[in-house]
Amino acid sequence: STLLVHTRAELEAARAGRIGDVAVVMTMGALHEGHLTLIRAARQAAKTVVVTVFVNPLQFGPNEDFSRYPRTLDADVKLCEQAEADIVFAPAVEDVYPGGEPMVRITPGPMGEVLEGAYRPGHFSGMLTVVNKLLNLTAPDYAYFGEKDAQQLALIRRMALDLNLPVEIRGVPTVREPDGLALSSRNRFLSPAERASALYLSKALFAGVSRRTPAEIRRSAQGVLEQGAQAEPPIRPDYLALVDPETFAEVDEAYRGPAVLALAAKVGATRLIDNLPLRIE
Ligand code: PAJ
Repeated sequence: STLLVHTRAELEAARAGRIGDVAVVMTMGALHEGHLTLIRAARQAAKTVVVTVFVNPLQFGPNEDFSRYPRTLDADVKLCEQAEADIVFAPAVEDVYPGGEPMVRITPGPMGEVLEGAYRPGHFSGMLTVVNKLLNLTAPDYAYFGEKDAQQLALIRRMALDLNLPVEIRGVPTVREPDGLALSSRNRFLSPAERASALYLSKALFAGVSRRTPAEIRRSAQGVLEQGAQAEPPIRPDYLALVDPETFAEVDEAYRGPAVLALAAKVGATRLIDNLPLRIE
């Protein structure tokens, strides 16, 4: 059965005596089938599975949803139990930030300035800082992250490479509702009408990836986003981009190889992101 621990000492006690490899799945809680898919992948791979649940204040901007972010620890632990995680590590802010506001932080570099980074200043620095901390606290062999947050995953891979982190970063494809909506902890904020309009995000991506050239891909997805902007309630797109999955730089018309079509849009008060991987031949 799953052990819930809160402090570093409790985590170390729970780990003591366990042999074999360790996989970690980091989350901010409000677990859904997307998170559970990561936990099941970790379960398949490793002897010990640690799930972290921590709403990281450092990665939220002053006008973002830190205070209203859903906190559902009891339900989260039950779901971790069902997915056969061994340990849930749910630390307090004081344990993750023992020195208070950290002075030393991870700098994402150029990949942290574009797309999500441009709309959420400081977000990726706060995210990488806590991922680095949670890797130090849990010391896993493998860490699982969702492709849903493709720019986050690319930055974490790059951090592991650039800082020689002793961990293997593994990506898991996005889990969607049957109608295409990517699962997200923030979906619970959507009214039924907003939920219907939110479908324009995944519709735009599927329209885009059915085309062949970068210009066609962008134009086709853009067309669907414009329909969504006329819907009731309207979606309000922040960006649509076709990028290299490793650098998140926009690809040009001559580009061949793997790419990611990524977008973000607000629906009512909720901001959603989504993306699809594709190959340009
Ligand atoms: P959170 O949004 O809770 O997501 C935790 C993990 O679940 C991330 O790796 C995310 O990409 C993955 N995930 C979310 N929705 C998914 C879906 N529909 N399909 C597949 N995977 C999905 O991302 C974070 O938390 C934080 O930034 C964190 C990495 C925990 C650092 O604070």
